[in-house]
Amino acid sequence: MKKTVLLIITLFVLTIMQAQNTLPVYLDDSKPIEQRIEDALSRMTLEEKVALVHAQSKFSSAGVQRLGIPENWMTDGPHGIRAEVFWDEWDQAGWTNDSCMAFPALTCLAATWNPEMAALYGKSIGEEARYRNKNVLLGPGVNIYRTPLNGRNFEYMGEDPYLASRMVVPYIQGVQKNGVAACVKHFALNNQEKDRHTVNVTVDDRTLYEIYLPAFKAAVTEGKAWAIMGSYNRYKGQWACQNEYLLNDILRGEWGFDGAVVSDWGGVNNTEQAIYHGLDMEFGSWTNGLSEGKSNAYDSYYLADPFLDLLRSGKVNPEEVDKKVRNILRLVFRTTMDRNRPFGSFATPEHGLAARQIAEEGIVLLKNTDNLLPIRLETTKKIAVIGENAIKMMTIGGGSSSLKAKYEISPLDGIKNKAGKRADVVYVRGYVGEETAEQDGLKSAQNLTETRSPEALLAEAIDVAKVADVVIFIGGLNKHDGQDCEGADREELGLPYGQDQLISALAKVNKNLVVVILSGNAVAMPWVNEVPAIVETWYLGSEAGNALANVLTGDVNPSGKLPFTFPVQLSDVGAHSLGDYPGKDYEETYHEGLFVGYRWNDKNKIKPLFPFGHGLSYTQFAYGKAAISAKTMPANGQLIVTVPVKNAGNKAGKEIVQLYIGDEKSSLVRPVKELKSFRKIDLAPGEEKNVEFTVSVDDLKFFDDTKHEWRAEPGKFTVYVGASSADMRSTVDFELK
Ligand code: GLC
Repeated sequence: MKKTVLLIITLFVLTIMQAQNTLPVYLDDSKPIEQRIEDALSRMTLEEKVALVHAQSKFSSAGVQRLGIPENWMTDGPHGIRAEVFWDEWDQAGWTNDSCMAFPALTCLAATWNPEMAALYGKSIGEEARYRNKNVLLGPGVNIYRTPLNGRNFEYMGEDPYLASRMVVPYIQGVQKNGVAACVKHFALNNQEKDRHTVNVTVDDRTLYEIYLPAFKAAVTEGKAWAIMGSYNRYKGQWACQNEYLLNDILRGEWGFDGAVVSDWGGVNNTEQAIYHGLDMEFGSWTNGLSEGKSNAYDSYYLADPFLDLLRSGKVNPEEVDKKVRNILRLVFRTTMDRNRPFGSFATPEHGLAARQIAEEGIVLLKNTDNLLPIRLETTKKIAVIGENAIKMMTIGGGSSSLKAKYEISPLDGIKNKAGKRADVVYVRGYVGEETAEQDGLKSAQNLTETRSPEALLAEAIDVAKVADVVIFIGGLNKHDGQDCEGADREELGLPYGQDQLISALAKVNKNLVVVILSGNAVAMPWVNEVPAIVETWYLGSEAGNALANVLTGDVNPSGKLPFTFPVQLSDVGAHSLGDYPGKDYEETYHEGLFVGYRWNDKNKIKPLFPFGHGLSYTQFAYGKAAISAKTMPANGQLIVTVPVKNAGNKAGKEIVQLYIGDEKSSLVRPVKELKSFRKIDLAPGEEKNVEFTVSVDDLKFFDDTKHEWRAEPGKFTVYVGASSADMRSTVDFELK
């Protein structure tokens, strides 16, 4: 008897102890996330749920204090971690621990055509976000480059959906390995800044599915992005942040997205639509939506008190808020409440090295007649560096991607550091673009005020150029409003500030002229035949000058290729000659349809200034004849195409071998050819590699919008292997039965 009582007491005590040690399910990492979500949801009040679905400050939304569920902290941007701002302001708050590593702009990443660089980029920027305790990075952006005037092209990954898709996936995976959500933006059809808050885009389904959606689809279905940001514009008359077609039908319905949909800042315009059309988190609304900028009125947000009132009155079913909260809790459990996530690091030498590597692989050598480049410092005694962009700070400005960088090596500093005692480097301004660089209360220390006239500056530049061994002109665009900057588009394709005249004048007095265009967009080059060497260098971030100097002096052999076409003139662009950019009365139809970028050039046999996929090297690559594993697509739906590529020069180098496919006869109109694969290969001098591509039936499909499905039609297909979209080296063809 005694023993039994003792046993019962022991069991009872153990049960109590066990009960005390048991974590509630939502706090227990060992439990499946979906179970944790339901447990947390069951414990939350209606008020706590509604608090989660809208901002509480400029860049944060509430957690649940009572349950120990953390707040969500978002941060811009795609190129580096934005400085801390005041609670309800855009202005930076003057903290002293938030100067970040500035990575190259995403056009530069795309120009590397190297998914390994995208993985390195995502890992590095994810570590910075994690260290700053942000759990949502507001990037990357993958809007397609439709017009060279779009102010935000520098933040995106070019004109081709396949290239953007291959490059965005590793970036997302790298970010999210840090327990930070990538928030891919701006979903969707945000291809210009002009009238971005109101323009209603009309586009046919084929173009939507074949051009504008693929990078977002890859981000969601392959990159497994944990968040997506809606865009400001409208599509089918509904704002993209509250759009049943984009968010409910496509994102959730067709792609199975299980993350959180975040509005762009001020992208929500209506409570009902925000409730029922797929939005989860409302940010940046002008408070009650009726007046601008009233601070601390977060309770007036569309999804705040107005939503709570509708729920309390029973007019809206509580399931509507539960759906949103589930997506937000899933974001939380994947990030802040994952006890196993790493701790990140910030503005480190490793991140500086990553920034430089990405920059060096993204710089594009457009032209190099007479092998003027690389500059040989052993024999070059006097280098003239001319142009404002040689010194102008570029990490500040551009809109929401503006950064308070820990440092920024200017092109001039990079060239001087590289030259050292070997050459005398002289700098003159050449032209005046902008005399300041400031944004959100951040002002560059540079004093660029200039009192002299353009004529005086030009005369000085000519004098200096006349006596130099080599002249390096560094110009292009900048991050000011109306240039490469959010909120507005450029008015023209040409270079601003009288640069064209200056370049032509320099070319007349010194044939050893290198023109470096620093920009995030294509520009017109009326002087292209007067200049022997042209380099497209992007906004390269903190390591800009070092990367550029390494390439110009040959310490790094350039290997970047253009992620978008450089047209000769705007009328050579579909969006401008057919597509009614920028729209009229806030209505815009993409009449050019599928024919964006090189697709337009091919269709209309228009020669570009520099084609998509173009980029030279300091060595030469010889392509052999492509071979195909079968002349008919086999039953397993896969063909192998191989092409020998040889480094025929005397310098090691990287070559981006591109594979395009053309459908010779199709019931629906199709582009002449489309990028379907690429490989970036390393080749030592004299080395030859047999590059292998797999071609599958999926690569042959088009989106049949009459049936709303992807399908491939039997018939003949041509495989083009080339060094750019306009430089085909070999073709093979095959039949799909
Ligand atoms: C901006 C941008 C978006 C950015 C957000 C927060 O308007 O469109 O890309 O992440 O607001 O700054």
